[in-house]
Amino acid sequence: MLLKEKMLRLGFGAGFPGHGTEEVLLSMEGILNRGSERLLEGARNEDVGFGWFDLSDSPPEGLFETVEWLRGFDSVVQIGIGGSALGNRMISSALCHPFYNELTRKERGGPRFYIADNADPEGTSAILDMIDPTRTAYIVASKSGSTAETMANFLLFLDSLAGSGVKSPKGNVLVVTDKEKGSLRSFAEETGCRSFPVPSTVGGRYSVLSPVGLLSAGAQGVDINSLLLGASAMRSSLTKKKEISRDPAMVMAASAIHHFREGRNIITFMPYSDNLDAFSEWFSQLWAESLGKDGWGSTPLKALGATDQHSQLQLFAEGPDDKLFLFIVPTSRRDLLMPAPSWKSLDDLSYLEGKGMGSMLDLEALSTAAALVKKGRPVLWLEIPVLDAFHLGGMVFFFEYVTAVTGLALDVDPFDQPGVEQGKKYTYGLMGRPGFESDAAEARERFSSILGSSASL
Ligand code: PA5
Repeated sequence: MLLKEKMLRLGFGAGFPGHGTEEVLLSMEGILNRGSERLLEGARNEDVGFGWFDLSDSPPEGLFETVEWLRGFDSVVQIGIGGSALGNRMISSALCHPFYNELTRKERGGPRFYIADNADPEGTSAILDMIDPTRTAYIVASKSGSTAETMANFLLFLDSLAGSGVKSPKGNVLVVTDKEKGSLRSFAEETGCRSFPVPSTVGGRYSVLSPVGLLSAGAQGVDINSLLLGASAMRSSLTKKKEISRDPAMVMAASAIHHFREGRNIITFMPYSDNLDAFSEWFSQLWAESLGKDGWGSTPLKALGATDQHSQLQLFAEGPDDKLFLFIVPTSRRDLLMPAPSWKSLDDLSYLEGKGMGSMLDLEALSTAAALVKKGRPVLWLEIPVLDAFHLGGMVFFFEYVTAVTGLALDVDPFDQPGVEQGKKYTYGLMGRPGFESDAAEARERFSSILGSSASL
Protein backbone atom coordinates (compact mmCIF):
# COMPACT_ATOMS: atom_id res chain seq x y z
CA MET A 1 0.00 0.00 0.00
CA LEU A 2 2.48 2.65 -1.06
CA LEU A 3 1.34 5.76 -2.81
CA LYS A 4 4.09 8.12 -3.90
CA GLU A 5 3.88 11.55 -5.46
CA LYS A 6 0.12 11.32 -5.84
CA MET A 7 -2.33 13.38 -3.85
CA LEU A 8 -4.94 10.70 -3.54
CA ARG A 9 -6.07 7.43 -5.09
CA LEU A 10 -9.55 5.94 -5.19
CA GLY A 11 -9.98 2.19 -5.60
CA PHE A 12 -13.46 1.41 -6.93
CA GLY A 13 -13.19 -2.10 -8.39
CA ALA A 14 -15.64 -3.36 -5.78
CA GLY A 15 -17.79 -0.26 -5.92
CA PHE A 16 -20.52 -1.58 -8.19
CA PRO A 17 -21.28 -5.20 -7.28
CA GLY A 18 -23.57 -6.94 -9.73
CA HIS A 19 -22.99 -4.31 -12.43
CA GLY A 20 -20.30 -3.74 -15.00
CA THR A 21 -18.26 -0.89 -13.58
CA GLU A 22 -17.48 0.54 -17.01
CA GLU A 23 -21.15 0.52 -18.02
CA VAL A 24 -22.24 2.28 -14.85
CA LEU A 25 -19.58 4.95 -15.26
CA LEU A 26 -20.32 5.49 -18.91
CA SER A 27 -24.04 5.76 -18.25
CA MET A 28 -23.30 8.60 -15.81
CA GLU A 29 -20.80 10.43 -17.92
CA GLY A 30 -23.32 12.80 -19.49
CA ILE A 31 -24.84 14.12 -16.28
CA LEU A 32 -21.50 14.30 -14.50
CA ASN A 33 -19.93 16.30 -17.29
CA ARG A 34 -22.90 18.62 -17.05
CA GLY A 35 -22.25 18.93 -13.29
CA SER A 36 -18.58 19.77 -13.72
CA GLU A 37 -19.27 22.22 -16.55
CA ARG A 38 -21.84 24.01 -14.41
CA LEU A 39 -19.31 24.16 -11.60
CA LEU A 40 -16.58 25.67 -13.78
CA GLU A 41 -19.00 28.16 -15.25
CA GLY A 42 -20.35 29.21 -11.85
CA ALA A 43 -16.78 29.64 -10.57
CA ARG A 44 -15.78 31.64 -13.64
CA ASN A 45 -18.77 33.96 -13.24
CA GLU A 46 -18.20 34.25 -9.48
CA ASP A 47 -21.79 33.18 -8.90
CA VAL A 48 -23.19 32.99 -5.37
CA GLY A 49 -22.21 29.68 -3.80
CA PHE A 50 -19.22 29.01 -6.05
CA GLY A 51 -16.66 31.22 -4.28
CA TRP A 52 -14.97 28.29 -2.45
CA PHE A 53 -13.53 27.16 -5.79
CA ASP A 54 -10.72 29.71 -5.73
CA LEU A 55 -10.47 30.45 -2.02
CA SER A 56 -7.04 28.88 -1.97
CA ASP A 57 -5.57 31.29 -4.52
CA SER A 58 -4.44 33.80 -1.95
CA PRO A 59 -4.97 34.16 1.79
CA PRO A 60 -6.98 37.27 2.71
CA GLU A 61 -5.00 40.38 3.42
CA GLY A 62 -3.99 40.75 7.05
CA LEU A 63 -4.53 37.07 7.84
CA PHE A 64 -1.00 36.25 8.95
CA GLU A 65 -0.68 39.38 11.04
CA THR A 66 -3.94 38.52 12.79
CA VAL A 67 -2.78 34.95 13.35
CA GLU A 68 0.27 36.38 15.15
CA TRP A 69 -2.04 38.55 17.26
CA LEU A 70 -4.09 35.46 18.19
CA ARG A 71 -0.95 33.54 19.12
CA GLY A 72 -0.20 36.11 21.78
CA PHE A 73 -3.20 35.00 23.89
CA ASP A 74 -3.40 32.15 26.39
CA SER A 75 -6.58 30.80 24.79
CA VAL A 76 -8.61 31.22 21.63
CA VAL A 77 -12.33 30.45 21.57
CA GLN A 78 -14.03 29.92 18.23
CA ILE A 79 -17.68 30.90 18.61
CA GLY A 80 -19.74 29.59 15.70
CA ILE A 81 -21.77 26.60 14.62
CA GLY A 82 -22.12 24.34 11.56
CA GLY A 83 -19.85 25.63 8.83
CA SER A 84 -18.39 28.13 11.28
CA ALA A 85 -17.10 25.42 13.62
CA LEU A 86 -16.91 21.95 12.06
CA GLY A 87 -14.02 22.83 9.75
CA ASN A 88 -12.12 24.37 12.67
CA ARG A 89 -12.49 21.17 14.67
CA MET A 90 -11.61 19.07 11.62
CA ILE A 91 -8.31 20.87 10.98
CA SER A 92 -7.42 20.92 14.62
CA SER A 93 -7.95 17.21 15.12
CA ALA A 94 -6.29 16.27 11.84
CA LEU A 95 -3.11 18.25 12.39
CA CYS A 96 -2.69 19.06 16.08
CA HIS A 97 -1.87 16.82 19.02
CA PRO A 98 -5.04 15.06 20.25
CA PHE A 99 -4.40 16.46 23.73
CA TYR A 100 -3.20 19.82 22.43
CA ASN A 101 -4.78 21.83 25.25
CA GLU A 102 -3.14 19.66 27.88
CA LEU A 103 0.38 20.22 26.58
CA THR A 104 2.53 22.98 28.05
CA ARG A 105 2.62 26.30 26.23
CA LYS A 106 6.11 25.47 24.98
CA GLU A 107 5.01 22.10 23.62
CA ARG A 108 1.87 23.55 22.03
CA GLY A 109 3.56 26.61 20.62
CA GLY A 110 0.21 28.42 20.52
CA PRO A 111 -2.77 29.30 22.69
CA ARG A 112 -5.21 26.70 23.99
CA PHE A 113 -8.12 26.25 21.61
CA TYR A 114 -11.81 25.79 22.39
CA ILE A 115 -14.89 25.67 20.20
CA ALA A 116 -18.22 27.01 21.47
CA ASP A 117 -20.68 25.69 18.91
CA ASN A 118 -23.63 24.09 20.61
CA ALA A 119 -25.85 26.28 22.74
CA ASP A 120 -25.61 23.88 25.65
CA PRO A 121 -25.01 25.58 29.00
CA GLU A 122 -22.85 22.61 30.06
CA GLY A 123 -20.43 23.04 27.16
CA THR A 124 -20.26 26.80 27.41
CA SER A 125 -19.84 26.78 31.20
CA ALA A 126 -17.05 24.23 30.82
CA ILE A 127 -15.13 26.57 28.50
CA LEU A 128 -15.76 29.50 30.82
CA ASP A 129 -14.29 27.39 33.64
CA MET A 130 -11.09 26.83 31.66
CA ILE A 131 -10.25 30.33 30.42
CA ASP A 132 -9.07 33.62 31.83
CA PRO A 133 -11.42 35.95 29.91
CA THR A 134 -8.92 38.75 29.77
CA ARG A 135 -6.20 36.51 28.29
CA THR A 136 -8.52 35.00 25.69
CA ALA A 137 -9.23 35.90 22.07
CA TYR A 138 -12.77 35.25 20.85
CA ILE A 139 -13.27 34.57 17.15
CA VAL A 140 -16.98 34.99 16.58
CA ALA A 141 -17.83 33.58 13.15
CA SER A 142 -21.21 33.68 11.50
CA LYS A 143 -21.87 34.27 7.84
CA SER A 144 -25.41 35.52 8.52
CA GLY A 145 -24.33 37.32 11.67
CA SER A 146 -27.49 36.27 13.43
CA THR A 147 -27.54 32.50 14.16
CA ALA A 148 -29.18 32.15 17.57
CA GLU A 149 -26.77 29.59 19.07
CA THR A 150 -23.73 31.63 18.05
CA MET A 151 -25.24 34.87 19.29
CA ALA A 152 -26.19 33.26 22.62
CA ASN A 153 -22.64 32.04 23.16
CA PHE A 154 -21.22 35.37 22.01
CA LEU A 155 -23.33 37.33 24.52
CA LEU A 156 -22.20 35.06 27.34
CA PHE A 157 -18.49 35.32 26.48
CA LEU A 158 -18.81 39.10 26.02
CA ASP A 159 -20.46 39.34 29.39
CA SER A 160 -17.74 37.34 31.07
CA LEU A 161 -15.12 39.58 29.44
CA ALA A 162 -16.89 42.71 30.67
CA GLY A 163 -17.34 41.07 34.09
CA SER A 164 -13.56 40.67 34.28
CA GLY A 165 -13.15 44.40 34.05
CA VAL A 166 -12.36 44.70 30.33
CA LYS A 167 -14.12 47.88 29.22
CA SER A 168 -13.90 47.44 25.44
CA PRO A 169 -14.06 44.13 23.55
CA LYS A 170 -11.72 45.57 20.93
CA GLY A 171 -8.61 44.00 22.38
CA ASN A 172 -10.06 40.48 22.54
CA VAL A 173 -12.79 40.00 19.95
CA LEU A 174 -12.36 39.17 16.28
CA VAL A 175 -15.44 39.13 14.06
CA VAL A 176 -15.77 36.99 10.92
CA THR A 177 -19.01 37.74 9.10
CA ASP A 178 -20.63 39.21 6.01
CA LYS A 179 -18.88 42.29 4.64
CA GLU A 180 -21.93 44.51 5.02
CA LYS A 181 -24.94 42.87 6.63
CA GLY A 182 -25.97 41.55 10.03
CA SER A 183 -25.61 42.41 13.71
CA LEU A 184 -22.04 41.15 13.92
CA ARG A 185 -20.92 43.51 11.16
CA SER A 186 -22.63 46.40 13.01
CA PHE A 187 -20.96 45.25 16.24
CA ALA A 188 -17.53 45.31 14.58
CA GLU A 189 -18.21 48.83 13.33
CA GLU A 190 -19.57 50.05 16.67
CA THR A 191 -16.71 48.66 18.75
CA GLY A 192 -13.82 48.90 16.29
CA CYS A 193 -13.03 45.20 16.75
CA ARG A 194 -10.85 43.47 14.20
CA SER A 195 -12.88 41.78 11.51
CA PHE A 196 -12.69 39.68 8.37
CA PRO A 197 -15.40 39.22 5.75
CA VAL A 198 -16.83 35.83 4.81
CA PRO A 199 -16.79 36.19 1.02
CA SER A 200 -20.36 36.71 -0.15
CA THR A 201 -20.08 33.91 -2.73
CA VAL A 202 -18.98 31.31 -0.15
CA GLY A 203 -21.56 29.35 1.86
CA GLY A 204 -20.98 28.31 5.48
CA ARG A 205 -20.10 24.65 4.91
CA TYR A 206 -17.68 25.54 2.09
CA SER A 207 -15.90 28.22 4.12
CA VAL A 208 -13.17 26.31 5.94
CA LEU A 209 -10.39 27.68 3.71
CA SER A 210 -11.57 31.27 4.32
CA PRO A 211 -10.89 33.25 7.52
CA VAL A 212 -13.68 31.18 9.12
CA GLY A 213 -11.33 28.19 9.34
CA LEU A 214 -7.86 29.58 8.70
CA LEU A 215 -7.52 31.97 11.65
CA SER A 216 -7.95 29.38 14.37
CA ALA A 217 -5.83 26.90 12.42
CA GLY A 218 -2.99 29.41 12.15
CA ALA A 219 -3.30 30.26 15.84
CA GLN A 220 -2.59 26.61 16.63
CA GLY A 221 0.48 26.63 14.42
CA VAL A 222 -1.04 24.86 11.42
CA ASP A 223 0.78 25.63 8.17
CA ILE A 224 -1.93 27.63 6.40
CA ASN A 225 0.10 28.06 3.22
CA SER A 226 0.42 24.30 2.82
CA LEU A 227 -3.32 23.82 3.39
CA LEU A 228 -4.05 26.31 0.61
CA LEU A 229 -1.38 24.90 -1.68
CA GLY A 230 -2.86 21.42 -1.26
CA ALA A 231 -6.31 22.71 -2.19
CA SER A 232 -4.93 24.50 -5.26
CA ALA A 233 -2.96 21.44 -6.36
CA MET A 234 -6.08 19.31 -6.06
CA ARG A 235 -8.07 21.84 -8.06
CA SER A 236 -5.52 21.80 -10.88
CA SER A 237 -5.56 18.05 -11.08
CA LEU A 238 -9.35 17.75 -10.89
CA THR A 239 -9.95 20.30 -13.59
CA LYS A 240 -7.70 18.53 -16.11
CA LYS A 241 -9.96 16.65 -18.46
CA LYS A 242 -9.62 12.88 -18.18
CA GLU A 243 -11.58 9.71 -18.76
CA ILE A 244 -14.26 9.23 -16.17
CA SER A 245 -12.69 6.01 -14.85
CA ARG A 246 -9.41 7.86 -14.21
CA ASP A 247 -11.07 10.65 -12.29
CA PRO A 248 -11.62 9.87 -8.59
CA ALA A 249 -14.08 12.72 -8.11
CA MET A 250 -16.27 11.60 -10.99
CA VAL A 251 -16.12 8.00 -9.80
CA MET A 252 -17.19 8.96 -6.30
CA ALA A 253 -20.03 11.12 -7.61
CA ALA A 254 -21.10 8.34 -10.00
CA SER A 255 -21.08 5.82 -7.14
CA ALA A 256 -23.17 8.02 -4.89
CA ILE A 257 -25.78 8.60 -7.60
CA HIS A 258 -25.83 4.99 -8.78
CA HIS A 259 -26.23 3.55 -5.31
CA PHE A 260 -28.87 6.05 -4.32
CA ARG A 261 -30.87 4.94 -7.34
CA GLU A 262 -30.31 1.32 -6.31
CA GLY A 263 -31.76 2.02 -2.85
CA ARG A 264 -28.42 2.41 -1.07
CA ASN A 265 -29.13 5.80 0.37
CA ILE A 266 -26.49 5.77 3.10
CA ILE A 267 -22.84 6.64 2.57
CA THR A 268 -20.61 5.24 5.29
CA PHE A 269 -17.55 7.42 5.75
CA MET A 270 -14.92 5.32 7.49
CA PRO A 271 -11.43 6.70 8.02
CA TYR A 272 -8.82 4.46 9.61
CA SER A 273 -7.27 7.31 11.56
CA ASP A 274 -8.26 8.94 14.84
CA ASN A 275 -7.06 12.23 13.37
CA LEU A 276 -9.72 12.02 10.66
CA ASP A 277 -12.66 11.30 12.96
CA ALA A 278 -13.68 14.98 12.95
CA PHE A 279 -13.20 15.07 9.18
CA SER A 280 -16.22 12.75 9.04
CA GLU A 281 -18.31 15.33 10.91
CA TRP A 282 -17.20 18.06 8.55
CA PHE A 283 -17.97 15.84 5.55
CA SER A 284 -21.37 14.92 7.02
CA GLN A 285 -22.50 18.52 7.07
CA LEU A 286 -21.11 19.20 3.61
CA TRP A 287 -22.77 16.16 2.08
CA ALA A 288 -26.06 16.21 3.98
CA GLU A 289 -26.80 19.91 3.81
CA SER A 290 -25.68 20.28 0.20
CA LEU A 291 -27.44 17.29 -1.29
CA GLY A 292 -30.38 16.44 0.96
CA LYS A 293 -33.02 18.14 -1.18
CA ASP A 294 -36.00 17.42 -3.42
CA GLY A 295 -36.20 13.85 -2.10
CA TRP A 296 -32.59 13.22 -3.09
CA GLY A 297 -29.67 12.70 -0.73
CA SER A 298 -27.65 9.90 0.77
CA THR A 299 -27.31 9.97 4.52
CA PRO A 300 -23.72 10.29 5.72
CA LEU A 301 -22.95 7.73 8.39
CA LYS A 302 -19.86 8.30 10.46
CA ALA A 303 -17.73 5.29 11.34
CA LEU A 304 -14.16 5.07 12.64
CA GLY A 305 -11.81 2.22 11.86
CA ALA A 306 -10.95 0.08 13.72
CA THR A 307 -13.24 1.20 16.59
CA ASP A 308 -16.47 0.68 14.65
CA GLN A 309 -15.48 -2.84 13.66
CA HIS A 310 -16.51 -3.55 17.24
CA SER A 311 -19.68 -1.53 17.08
CA GLN A 312 -21.39 -1.08 13.70
CA LEU A 313 -19.66 -3.67 11.50
CA GLN A 314 -22.17 -6.43 12.22
CA LEU A 315 -24.89 -4.21 10.77
CA PHE A 316 -22.68 -3.18 7.85
CA ALA A 317 -22.00 -6.81 6.89
CA GLU A 318 -25.33 -8.48 7.55
CA GLY A 319 -27.91 -5.75 7.95
CA PRO A 320 -29.82 -4.18 5.07
CA ASP A 321 -27.88 -3.70 1.85
CA ASP A 322 -28.53 0.06 1.89
CA LYS A 323 -24.99 1.48 2.22
CA LEU A 324 -22.06 2.51 0.11
CA PHE A 325 -18.77 2.26 2.04
CA LEU A 326 -15.95 4.75 1.70
CA PHE A 327 -12.75 3.71 3.45
CA ILE A 328 -10.10 6.40 3.95
CA VAL A 329 -6.57 5.28 4.66
CA PRO A 330 -3.32 7.26 4.95
CA THR A 331 -0.68 5.02 3.37
CA SER A 332 2.10 6.20 5.61
CA ARG A 333 1.80 6.99 9.26
CA ARG A 334 3.78 6.98 12.45
CA ASP A 335 4.14 3.47 13.81
CA LEU A 336 4.61 1.88 17.22
CA LEU A 337 6.38 -1.44 17.31
CA MET A 338 4.83 -3.97 19.63
CA PRO A 339 7.20 -5.48 22.16
CA ALA A 340 7.64 -9.17 23.03
CA PRO A 341 5.19 -10.33 25.70
CA SER A 342 7.13 -10.47 28.95
CA TRP A 343 4.83 -12.86 30.85
CA LYS A 344 4.29 -16.55 30.15
CA SER A 345 0.54 -16.09 30.37
CA LEU A 346 0.80 -13.72 27.42
CA ASP A 347 2.65 -16.15 25.12
CA ASP A 348 -0.40 -16.30 22.86
CA LEU A 349 0.28 -12.70 21.93
CA SER A 350 3.73 -13.38 20.51
CA TYR A 351 2.29 -13.12 16.97
CA LEU A 352 2.16 -9.36 17.59
CA GLU A 353 5.83 -9.09 18.56
CA GLY A 354 7.86 -6.78 16.34
CA LYS A 355 4.82 -5.78 14.29
CA GLY A 356 3.69 -2.17 13.98
CA MET A 357 0.41 -1.01 15.47
CA GLY A 358 -0.06 1.29 12.45
CA SER A 359 0.53 -1.65 10.12
CA MET A 360 -2.07 -3.58 12.06
CA LEU A 361 -4.54 -0.74 11.58
CA ASP A 362 -3.84 -0.79 7.82
CA LEU A 363 -4.44 -4.54 7.75
CA GLU A 364 -7.64 -4.14 9.72
CA ALA A 365 -8.89 -1.71 7.08
CA LEU A 366 -7.96 -4.18 4.37
CA SER A 367 -9.63 -7.11 6.21
CA THR A 368 -12.82 -5.19 6.87
CA ALA A 369 -13.09 -3.97 3.30
CA ALA A 370 -12.47 -7.52 2.06
CA ALA A 371 -15.12 -8.91 4.43
CA LEU A 372 -17.66 -6.40 3.09
CA VAL A 373 -16.75 -7.26 -0.50
CA LYS A 374 -17.34 -10.93 0.35
CA LYS A 375 -20.87 -9.99 1.39
CA GLY A 376 -21.41 -8.17 -1.91
CA ARG A 377 -21.38 -4.69 -0.33
CA PRO A 378 -20.06 -1.79 -2.47
CA VAL A 379 -16.71 -0.49 -1.26
CA LEU A 380 -14.66 2.52 -2.34
CA TRP A 381 -11.12 2.79 -1.00
CA LEU A 382 -9.51 6.21 -0.79
CA GLU A 383 -5.79 6.49 -0.03
CA ILE A 384 -3.81 9.59 0.80
CA PRO A 385 -0.02 9.36 1.03
CA VAL A 386 0.19 11.04 4.43
CA LEU A 387 -1.95 13.20 6.67
CA ASP A 388 -0.32 16.64 6.64
CA ALA A 389 -1.53 20.18 5.93
CA PHE A 390 -0.94 19.88 2.17
CA HIS A 391 -2.90 16.65 1.80
CA LEU A 392 -5.63 17.81 4.16
CA GLY A 393 -6.11 20.91 1.99
CA GLY A 394 -6.31 18.59 -1.01
CA MET A 395 -8.93 16.39 0.65
CA VAL A 396 -11.03 19.41 1.62
CA PHE A 397 -11.10 20.57 -1.98
CA PHE A 398 -11.71 17.04 -3.28
CA PHE A 399 -14.83 16.50 -1.16
CA GLU A 400 -16.17 20.00 -1.83
CA TYR A 401 -15.73 19.36 -5.54
CA VAL A 402 -17.40 15.93 -5.47
CA THR A 403 -20.31 17.31 -3.45
CA ALA A 404 -20.86 20.29 -5.73
CA VAL A 405 -20.58 18.24 -8.94
CA THR A 406 -22.99 15.61 -7.62
CA GLY A 407 -25.60 18.26 -6.81
CA LEU A 408 -25.14 20.20 -10.04
CA ALA A 409 -25.34 16.97 -12.06
CA LEU A 410 -28.70 16.19 -10.46
CA ASP A 411 -30.16 19.70 -10.66
CA VAL A 412 -29.96 19.92 -6.87
CA ASP A 413 -28.64 23.27 -5.62
CA PRO A 414 -25.63 22.28 -3.49
CA PHE A 415 -25.28 25.76 -2.03
CA ASP A 416 -28.59 26.49 -0.31
CA GLN A 417 -30.14 25.00 2.83
CA PRO A 418 -33.86 25.83 2.98
CA GLY A 419 -34.53 23.03 5.47
CA VAL A 420 -32.08 24.57 7.94
CA GLU A 421 -33.54 28.02 7.56
CA GLN A 422 -37.00 26.84 8.63
CA GLY A 423 -35.76 25.61 12.01
CA LYS A 424 -33.78 28.82 12.50
CA LYS A 425 -36.95 30.87 11.94
CA TYR A 426 -38.97 28.80 14.41
CA THR A 427 -36.24 29.27 17.02
CA TYR A 428 -36.17 33.04 16.48
CA GLY A 429 -39.96 33.15 16.87
CA LEU A 430 -40.00 31.01 20.02
CA MET A 431 -37.20 33.10 21.54
CA GLY A 432 -39.26 36.26 20.95
CA ARG A 433 -37.32 37.85 18.11
CA PRO A 434 -39.48 40.61 16.57
CA GLY A 435 -40.74 39.81 13.08
CA PHE A 436 -40.95 36.05 13.68
CA GLU A 437 -44.24 35.93 15.66
CA SER A 438 -46.10 33.83 13.09
CA ASP A 439 -43.20 31.34 13.00
CA ALA A 440 -43.54 30.87 16.76
CA ALA A 441 -47.26 30.15 16.43
CA GLU A 442 -46.66 27.72 13.56
CA ALA A 443 -43.87 25.93 15.43
CA ARG A 444 -46.13 25.45 18.48
CA GLU A 445 -48.95 24.14 16.37
CA ARG A 446 -46.76 21.67 14.49
CA PHE A 447 -45.05 20.53 17.66
CA SER A 448 -48.39 19.90 19.39
CA SER A 449 -49.07 17.13 16.87
CA ILE A 450 -46.13 15.17 18.32
CA LEU A 451 -47.50 15.22 21.84
CA GLY A 452 -51.06 14.85 20.54
CA SER A 453 -50.71 11.20 21.53
CA SER A 454 -48.22 10.17 24.16
CA ALA A 455 -47.31 7.26 26.37
CA SER A 456 -45.68 7.72 29.76
CA LEU A 457 -44.36 5.67 32.61
O1 PA5 B 1 -23.63 25.77 5.56
C1 PA5 B 1 -24.36 26.60 6.08
O2 PA5 B 1 -24.66 27.65 5.50
C2 PA5 B 1 -24.90 26.42 7.49
O3 PA5 B 1 -24.76 25.15 8.00
C3 PA5 B 1 -24.19 27.39 8.42
O4 PA5 B 1 -22.83 27.11 8.45
C4 PA5 B 1 -24.75 27.35 9.85
O5 PA5 B 1 -26.14 27.33 9.86
C5 PA5 B 1 -24.24 28.58 10.62
O6 PA5 B 1 -24.66 29.74 9.96
P1 PA5 B 1 -23.94 31.13 10.17
O7 PA5 B 1 -22.52 31.00 9.71
O8 PA5 B 1 -24.72 32.08 9.33
O9 PA5 B 1 -24.02 31.44 11.62
